[in-house]
Formats: sequence, structure tokens, C-alpha cells
Amino acid sequence: MIKNLSDNISKVLITEEEIKTKLKEMGEYISKEYEGKPLLLVSILKGAFIFMADLCREITIPCEIGFMCTESYYNGTVSSGNVNITLDLKRDISGYHVLIVEDIIDSGRTLSEVCKLLKTRHPLSLKVVTFLDKPDRRQVEFEADRVCFTIPDMFVVGYGLDCAEIYRNLPYVAEYREN
Ligand code: IMP
Ligand code: MG
Repeated sequence: MIKNLSDNISKVLITEEEIKTKLKEMGEYISKEYEGKPLLLVSILKGAFIFMADLCREITIPCEIGFMCTESYYNGTVSSGNVNITLDLKRDISGYHVLIVEDIIDSGRTLSEVCKLLKTRHPLSLKVVTFLDKPDRRQVEFEADRVCFTIPDMFVVGYGLDCAEIYRNLPYVAEYREN
């Protein structure tokens, strides 16, 4: 158990200011792209809850919001390899343009499984916007349609991202390194 939220944080990677600027730009892009279309934003819990909350408030067109929950990281910084969907959407998505709002793409496994599943439900379109992308870590081929920030191969926390469930409430993105 850490004592302070700054424990094991080695450096700030993306500041609150940089996040705000980027989300404004992304919100504008999405508002233009989906104007006049039935839009459903689908966020993957828990990591993307802050990105979803901030991004949707930069979107100026009507949209609906849904949540899914997946598990792939069990503890600490090591991936388990397989993806479980522990919470699914309840509604029929066939009348919506679906935009997945994800926190980070690492191995690519989570989103490739989620996209595979959602495609079988025939949305009008299916795209992905991710807050962070770690392309050097890919194990399965996967590319987001829009990326806010591309980062090197390092473990990061904050802005929704955790290490063993801690640090999600840091308002910026920082590199995690055990002291
Ligand atoms: P995937 O490896 O692309 O399937 O990513 C699985 C999940 O691992 C992401 O949605 C995150 O929740 C988590 N994850 C991947 N890299 C990091 C990281 O650097 N920090 C915190 N969580 C991460
Ligand atoms: Mg996630």
C-alpha cells in the first residue's frame, strides 16, 4: 500500500494542459465527423472513465453513452494474455455509429476482441478513439482510427489508468516506476 499518490511516480509524461488542448481538438473532430448521425460512444471500464467523461463534454452534437468492462491485467504491470468481457452493452447497436473510447492500446488484444464482438452486431459503423497508444508493445495487429498521444514502451498511470487499482485519480499521465 502506497502512502502518497506521488510514490513510485518517476516523471510526468503528459500534463493536464496538454490533455485539455488535445481533447478539445478531438471533440471538434468527432462533432464534425458524426454530425447528423446517431452516435453511440462506448467506453471500456475502468481505465477509460475519465477520458470518456472529459471527451464527451468536448463533443457538441447529440450522442448516447454506453459502457463495457473488460479484464486483462490482473495485478501490477503484467498482462494475463486473454480478455474477458465482464460487462456488456444492453442495447441493440445496429442503428448507431459506434465510437469506442479507450484509455490505452498496449498489446492490442482488448480492442481486437471488443471490435470482433461488436462487429457481429452490425453497427452502422465502428471506429476507435484512444487516449494513449503504445505501438511498440503490439502482439496482435490493431490500429485505432484516432490517437490522442503516442507513447514509448513504458508503464504509465493517471488520468484513469491504474497500477493495481491505484493512481486512477491523478489528473495527468505519469511514468510508473517502483522505487
Ligand atoms: P491491451 O494489452 O491492448 O489489451 O490493453 C489492455 C489494458 O491494459 C488497457 O486497456 C489498460 O487498461 C491496461 N494497460 C495497458 N498498458 C497500461 C499502462 O501502461 N498503464 C496502465 N494500464 C495499462
Ligand atoms: Mg482499458
